[in-house]
Order: sequence, then C-alpha cells, then structure tokens
Amino acid sequence: MEHSIALVTGTTSGLGYAAASMLATKGYRQVIVTGRSLARVQETAAQLAAETKAHVFTPLELELDAPTSVESALAELVRIGRKINFLLLNAGWIPGKKRVLTAAGIEASQAPLIGHHQLTVGLLRANLLSPDARIVIAGAEPARGDVPMFSYTDVAAFAAKHHQGDRTAAIEALMRSGPNVKYVPNRAYADAKLIIAWWVAALARRLPSGMAVYAVAPGSAPDTKAVRNLGPAMKWLMIPIVKLIPGMSQTPETAARRYLQASEFGTDVSGQFFASAPKKLTGPIEAMRHPHFHDRANQEAAWQAVVKVSGVGLVLPASLSAVS
Ligand SMILES: NC(=O)c1ccc[n+]([C@@H]2O[C@H](COP(=O)([O-])OP(=O)(O)OC[C@H]3O[C@@H](n4cnc5c(N)ncnc54)[C@H](OP(=O)(O)O)[C@@H]3O)[C@@H](O)[C@H]2O)c1
Repeated sequence: MEHSIALVTGTTSGLGYAAASMLATKGYRQVIVTGRSLARVQETAAQLAAETKAHVFTPLELELDAPTSVESALAELVRIGRKINFLLLNAGWIPGKKRVLTAAGIEASQAPLIGHHQLTVGLLRANLLSPDARIVIAGAEPARGDVPMFSYTDVAAFAAKHHQGDRTAAIEALMRSGPNVKYVPNRAYADAKLIIAWWVAALARRLPSGMAVYAVAPGSAPDTKAVRNLGPAMKWLMIPIVKLIPGMSQTPETAARRYLQASEFGTDVSGQFFASAPKKLTGPIEAMRHPHFHDRANQEAAWQAVVKVSGVGLVLPASLSAVS
C-alpha cells in the first residue's frame, strides 16, 4: 500500500473528499484529487493535507462534462507518468425537478459516466493503470427498483416501443433524455446508476486479466452536497425525517469506506454491483443478484451506447490482453 497511487474524482465535497482523506490515512503515497476547476481543487487538496497531515494530494482539474477537460487531465497524467493502482470514479449528482442537459446534449446525471468512460479508456490506452488496478465507480441502490419512489426504465420494452428493438439506441435515448423519454428526476437517477452497473459488467469483460472493476453504492449519506438539486420539501422535510429513522442513513465516512473496502476485492467478483442488502440503504455491502443487473444484452447495449455517445472505444495496447 505504501507505494500505491489513487485517483479520486469529485473530491470537492462529500464522499470523494472523505474517501481521499481515508486513502491518505491508509498510507497511499499519492492521491490525485479532481475537481471541476483547478482553483477549487487546489483548495480541497490544501484542506485535505491540513486535516490529515499527509502531503500526498495532487490537485487535478477535471470537468467530466467537457471532453476537452478530460483530454487535458489525461495529458497531465501522462506527463506525471505514474501508474494508478486505485481509480475511484466517484463524481456524480442527483438530478432535480428541472431537466438539465450538458453542452453535448446528455442528461446531467447521466453525463459523468461519459467522462468517466473517456478517462478510464484513456488511462488504459496510455498504459497508466497498474497491472492489478482496481476501478470503483459510484452506483446507488435506486437502480435495484426496491427503493420507494424510485423506478428504472425497462430498456427492452422501451426499445421495442420506440427503437425497433435496438437497445443501444434506447439507452442512448435515455442518456440524452430524448424525445420519447418523459423526464422524471428519480427515474433519470435510477436509470443513470443502472447503466453504470451494466457498463461495469461490460468493462470487466474487456479489462486485462489482473485488473478489476466494480460498481459500489455508498448507501444513504444525506450529509453531503448530493441533495443540492432536491426541492425544499425533500430537502427540509423528508431528509431530516429519514435521518431520524434507524438504518436509513449513515455518515459520509461510513459510506466512503465502502469504496475502500471494494478496492481490496478480487478479480473473481469483477463486473459486479455491490450495495446494501436488498431493500436496505445502509449496512454491509453484498453483490446484487437482481436479474436485471445481469442481463447481458443490456450490459453490452450500455457499453455500445457509451462508446457511441463518448466517441471513445476501447482498443488495448498490444502489451495488455483482455479477460475475454
Ligand atoms: N450521498 C448519498 O446519499 C449517495 C447515495 C448513493 C450514491 N451516491 C453517489 O455518490 C457520489 C458522490 O456523491 P456525494 O453524495 O458525495 O455528493 P456531492 O457532495 O455533491 O459530491 C459530488 C462531487 O462530484 C462532483 N461532480 C459532479 N458532477 C461532476 C462533473 N460532471 N464533473 C466533475 N465533477 C463532478 C462535484 O463537484 P461540484 O461540486 O463542482 O459539482 C462534487 O465534488 C455520486 O456519484 C452520487 O450519485 C451518493
């Protein structure tokens, strides 16, 4: 561990900040912390160093919604030239009532996956992940369909109705919140995290054999800025009530610890989605068995849709060979 290097996205608040702090405490030699603007993430890195008394934080500008920003971040990582052992793709957000599209026309809660894909593929292409690298991306329990008020889209049915059965086109339409998608914030979020779980399964089949990737739901941790887009009733009434109910919420540190726990999982469980036990939002994590996470057609359609939307496919360098 002493020689390990981690990169954490979305560290300017919440779980990314907590995870970066814990990685330093655990003995990581360098923790590359990212934020949308260099000034802000420099402040974050200084605050982390002051709090942990560890001088291991390297700030990196990364706006996942802007392909040029991801390219610049990759160029900087190539310049640094050190292989990353733990890639923590944490950045994300919970959408609000108003539908927000990025400049590239992607629904904003779906968009971080596109930037995370571009970053991950860029690092693989540049051979900047260590041979035993672990990749963790933030998932969320609403993707299961068993969290009250959250449901996900049945992609096969949506594809049959609007896209002549083409699931890749259907998933692209969901990511773009296209003409046949009725925007419902909770569904957009559940769909975004479900597509992440599928992307993880598809990426696991393409990774070099010693590497592994997992989707990890941090669980309910309302004391972050994730709630920023929620309406006043939700923010000031529902969430304070939820916080009073035992088992319905946990601290950001407890939530972020799940990411670190997964960084030590083996390649045998690569490609899986880890979350609280079914119908729960806190507690120990386990691999999710719900059949919809394991639908291979949807996993591959999600991969193809992400490749199409990002314009970035994965061709490994000759020195690396994929799992399957
Ligand atoms: N907290 C929970 O209860 C909970 C539950 C399940 C899953 N999650 C997931 O956990 C992850 C972290 O959330 P959090 O609770 O820590 O929320 P948070 O406090 O809002 O932190 C999110 C971080 O991600 C960054 N970010 C968001 N979109 C980005 C983009 N397009 N490009 C670059 N950076 C971006 C934010 O930067 P800015 O401040 O600049 O926007 C911030 O640093 C998210 O993926 C979220 O979906 C959280």
